Amino acid sequence: MDKDVEKIIKEAQEKLEKIADLKLLDQTYIELFGKNSHLNKLTKQISNLPKDKRPKAGQTINKAKKQLEKLFKETKSRLITHHSSLINPIDISAPGKKDEIGHLHLVSQAIEEIVEIFSRLGFYLQSYPEIDWEWYVFESLNMPKNHPARDEWETFFVKSDPHAKYGGQVLTPHTSNGQVREMEKTKTPPIRMINISRCYRRQIDISHTPMFHQFEGLLIDKNISIPDLRGTFDFFTKSFFGPDRVTRLRPHHFRFTEPSFEVDVICDICKGEGCRICKSGWLELGGAGMVHPKVLKAGNIDPQKYSGFAFGWGIERTIAMKTGLGDIRLLYQNDIRFLEQF
Ligand code: DAH
Repeated sequence: MDKDVEKIIKEAQEKLEKIADLKLLDQTYIELFGKNSHLNKLTKQISNLPKDKRPKAGQTINKAKKQLEKLFKETKSRLITHHSSLINPIDISAPGKKDEIGHLHLVSQAIEEIVEIFSRLGFYLQSYPEIDWEWYVFESLNMPKNHPARDEWETFFVKSDPHAKYGGQVLTPHTSNGQVREMEKTKTPPIRMINISRCYRRQIDISHTPMFHQFEGLLIDKNISIPDLRGTFDFFTKSFFGPDRVTRLRPHHFRFTEPSFEVDVICDICKGEGCRICKSGWLELGGAGMVHPKVLKAGNIDPQKYSGFAFGWGIERTIAMKTGLGDIRLLYQNDIRFLEQF
């Protein structure tokens, strides 16, 4: 019996290996398992065996049946795979599908570029808390308690127990809070800081979002004067916006600089003539000025020995001026159709 079974399996194996067609395979099924199959004939012979040999013979045949079924299934799946590759042949010359690779958000791109430009002038990157004491945000910058100038910063206040010297806590409405912090940290000038941070104000319209970014420059050294400030701004504007984008200083008032300016960049569209976008021919970049002696004193720096300039500009606004973006809220809507353009 064992030998017969072995022979049946061997023959079946050889036959199945040669089959290249699913239809033929179906026919083989009947040959292997049908009424007239060798296996079935053997099964019938069991009853002719002596009683004690029958169970063993039954087991052998069952095992063989399972083995044949396995072989049959394997052949079938081989044929199906082959068949489908004929219908959908793999074209090895077709160009591959590329994974879609994202990129840094526009704001992050601008931050990297700004840091790189200022680093060429020896400025180093610094960052300071986004929740800070009123003292660093206002008092140390020559804006005493209850001074109306504070109103311009539309501040979010944080519920906290006020500190005797530092007052309450606020979400930083500008990056100027880093000025005195940097003086305290460095102790002795020179200071050439770029402080980039998120800022928060109660405002929202096409040119304002409640959360935005500013970059704050602070340079303190001996004999620093307005031409140094001008030169720095021209270098930045030309590097960031392009070689023909010049700046101008407009007198302004800030409590923490004296004199103070607003810095404008010439409009890219009308080149200073005045157009629908800019109206005056110039676009406002942000505030700047020579650091007020009172601010230097708040940071324990002697205004007789040292002087410096500072500036604070919005990153979103800077991006808008470079790209012609009409509504800065788009930067935070995360619409892939918008972001993919940059
Ligand atoms: N902190 C000011 C603001 O948020 C901008 C500013 C003006 C920063 C003058 C300065 C400066 O450093 O000197 O509007």
